[in-house]
Amino acid sequence: MSESGSGHIPVLLDEVLQSIAPVRGDCVIDATAGRGGHASAIAAAINPGRILLVDRDQDNLAYAAARVRAAAPDSQVEAVHGDFRNVAEIAVKHGIRANILLADLGISSNQLDQPERGFGFQKDGPLDMRLDRASPYSAADIIRDLSESDIADLIFNLGEDPFARLIARKVAQSRSQAPIVTTAHLARLVREAYGSRARDSRLHPATRTFMALRIAVNDELKALEDLLKSIASAIRSKSGGWLSPEARVAVISFHSLEDRQVKRTFVGLADEGLVHRVNRKPLIAGDSEIANNSRARSAKLRTVRVATH
Ligand SMILES: C[S@@+](CC[C@H](N)C(=O)[O-])C[C@H]1O[C@@H](n2cnc3c(N)ncnc32)[C@H](O)[C@@H]1O
Repeated sequence: MSESGSGHIPVLLDEVLQSIAPVRGDCVIDATAGRGGHASAIAAAINPGRILLVDRDQDNLAYAAARVRAAAPDSQVEAVHGDFRNVAEIAVKHGIRANILLADLGISSNQLDQPERGFGFQKDGPLDMRLDRASPYSAADIIRDLSESDIADLIFNLGEDPFARLIARKVAQSRSQAPIVTTAHLARLVREAYGSRARDSRLHPATRTFMALRIAVNDELKALEDLLKSIASAIRSKSGGWLSPEARVAVISFHSLEDRQVKRTFVGLADEGLVHRVNRKPLIAGDSEIANNSRARSAKLRTVRVATH
């Protein structure tokens, strides 16, 4: 366990703090509370302030809430088990007008490291991958229900794996013999599909397939699209609604399809004169951060500040 036992090291922490510039009394929404790494640092800077934590994962949310309360004992800390695609409703229900919103996408290291969650393949576990364990559809269901060509498209489009068709063929052959319900079974099939090409691959051959399935199981691209729409419409409504007129909004993404969505929304708002982009190019991790946390390798941080006219 790293980061004082939390199991997750927050990426680009200094860069996040610099770009959102939290100050005493700020009102913050952390839409992806995770293990509370970013949130506890922000909470310490705003104390006494107000911070609303959102996460689809009940366990992470409870952990983050306890950590943030300890970091900012004089602040109002609320925890909401929910999907950030509903951020506007959640904020309105809690009567919050945020001057900071952070979304740090994807999953946390502790989720990846728990075999029973099925996100990883280092240890065998059920092929699950649901962020919210109450949601009905798991990765095993996708592998069982999709046609071979739909599985190939999913692995190609969301995982950008050039051998997607070969992997889908292996999956289809194998599931006709026995259901694929464990992470080790799927990882073995992907390795077999790669064959000798696995030797040339820097990543484990199953990495992209697992990422693609996780994104699909949790409908992650649509959830991000909905979050960005909510942010844009709050900024466009002159009164701001649940986002205050001087709000800072920061999004950390780990996938090119996510970063493309964030960039398009932020550039669009900047072109309308509604926000300033804090950095024109996304901030990325330096070598020392990557050496300490390989997850940081693909992180991109984009931040906007609502324009005050
Ligand atoms: C990368 S982790 C966040 C880590 C956190 N910033 C920290 O420093 O500990 C992403 C978190 O977002 C949650 N998550 C992913 N998609 C979500 C969604 N649509 N709505 C709410 N939470 C989501 C995951 O369950 C996970 O806990």
